[in-house]
Amino acid sequence: MTDNFKLAPSILSADFSDLQSALQICDKGGAHWIHVDVMDNQFVPNLTIGPPVVKSLRKKTQKFMDVHMMVIDPETLVEPFARAGADNITFHVEAVEDPINIIDLIRSCGCKVGVSIKPNTPLSEILPILDKVDIVLVMSVEPGFGGQGYLPESNERISLIKSFLIENCLDRVLIEVDGGVKLHNAKSVLNAGADVLVAGSEVFKSNNPVQTIEDFYKLSNL
Ligand code: DX5
Ligand code: ZN
Repeated sequence: MTDNFKLAPSILSADFSDLQSALQICDKGGAHWIHVDVMDNQFVPNLTIGPPVVKSLRKKTQKFMDVHMMVIDPETLVEPFARAGADNITFHVEAVEDPINIIDLIRSCGCKVGVSIKPNTPLSEILPILDKVDIVLVMSVEPGFGGQGYLPESNERISLIKSFLIENCLDRVLIEVDGGVKLHNAKSVLNAGADVLVAGSEVFKSNNPVQTIEDFYKLSNL
């Protein structure tokens, strides 16, 4: 395993009746983070996980819990997710009027701050606030469902963000890429500038999820 990048398996593609096994898979494979997709059936047409589930997961893992809120009213969920044990809380720039308010709120709860951007939103929506966050989550599919194909134009968006971060001495900000990341394209996503890869279906729908996590980490040695 290498520390060159972090893998964040998304439990959205795991068996929801047995999330403890999903956490054990992440432990055995050596995944760094656990990615938790929160959907409210309004910001996206799907309904998933809330704070009580995160609270239960927290009791079963020490790993960095990466909460990705795809909701229309993220401010109201920050404190509940922080109390439930989230390490990072990511909101969508499309869902807030004033991103500074929610950034301050997330920080005041003691969590890392992530901002996410959908594939068709101009990067100019997030660049001015990247100095205030820890993570920028680049959606490489339209959010809502696992198992979609990676949008190839995402690589250019990742590279542009990477250049912006370097030019502005902000390379402490991690670039996380979410949607359609597979073993076959992970290397090119890393080469574009990703620091964290989210992988849902590739891990949890594979025949041997532990091996798949290990295979992701082997990629960065190639
Ligand atoms: C999509 C979610 C993703 C999803 C990724 O809206 O944010 O985290 O679980 O799943 P895959 O890796 O299958 O595209
Ligand atoms: Zn996600």
